[in-house]
Amino acid sequence: MTVSIKTTADIEKMRIAGRMAAEVLELIGEHVVAGVTTGELDRICHEHIVDVQKAIPACLGYRGFPKSVCTSVNHVICHGIPSEKKKLKKGDIINIDVTVIYEEFHGDTSKMYVVGEAPSHATRLIQVTQECLYKGIELVKPGCRLGDIGHVIQQHAEKNHYSIVRDYCGHGIGRVFHEEPQVMHYGRPDTGLILKEGMTFTIEPMLNAGKAAGKLKKDGWTVETKDGRLSAQWEHTLAVTATGVEVLTARKEESFF
Ligand code: MF3
Ligand code: CO
Ligand code: CO
Repeated sequence: MTVSIKTTADIEKMRIAGRMAAEVLELIGEHVVAGVTTGELDRICHEHIVDVQKAIPACLGYRGFPKSVCTSVNHVICHGIPSEKKKLKKGDIINIDVTVIYEEFHGDTSKMYVVGEAPSHATRLIQVTQECLYKGIELVKPGCRLGDIGHVIQQHAEKNHYSIVRDYCGHGIGRVFHEEPQVMHYGRPDTGLILKEGMTFTIEPMLNAGKAAGKLKKDGWTVETKDGRLSAQWEHTLAVTATGVEVLTARKEESFF
């Protein structure tokens, strides 16, 4: 396994790409309302990335993906394809996953939104999933092992009676969208890759209210829960620093120590 180490100059570019992706998540929030289509949300994100940021939406054309962002509603685990036919309604929950390329480098991040008000079982799933991401991030520093991160995420999910999706994981990121290492959201302490300064990767836990199993739809992209129950996901792109972690995709509403 070869994990690339980024230079200070590389990380400076990833910081800009990360900020751009975070900005898209910040500005799309006010558009996530009942009646809007996921196709419209995609268009707003696309135009901001291309026309305002003068950057590249990484998802568009990636392995044939047809849109600029992923929109995953309710029981969709990930990789939902934006569509003019998919209208959001009150009580829906949706993950929007944005990846921006700036000067060759990627910034990849996603967050959950609620349409109007959602039932408490849905907001609880969303909150615990975000806590899983934050508990993982808190551990990141040189010497930490990927199994430590997977373990803390799995523990927190299972303590809350949710299941962790195992078919998809976080990933190294840089000039390449998905590179080594694979960042599992489950695992055993003191196992796996030892983190070093200059590594950059995502943590992006997916938690299901029911069973972990997913199934791929005929469109070749959309992954749904097999049991039809809700799923949630949050994602950040991170850099390992000399003493800890930098969250390259932090939003203004977040404060990392
Ligand atoms: N952004 C997703 C991730 O977190 C990948 C989406 S690939 C796409 O890794 F092709 F579906 F857009
Ligand atoms: Co990712
Ligand atoms: Co993503």
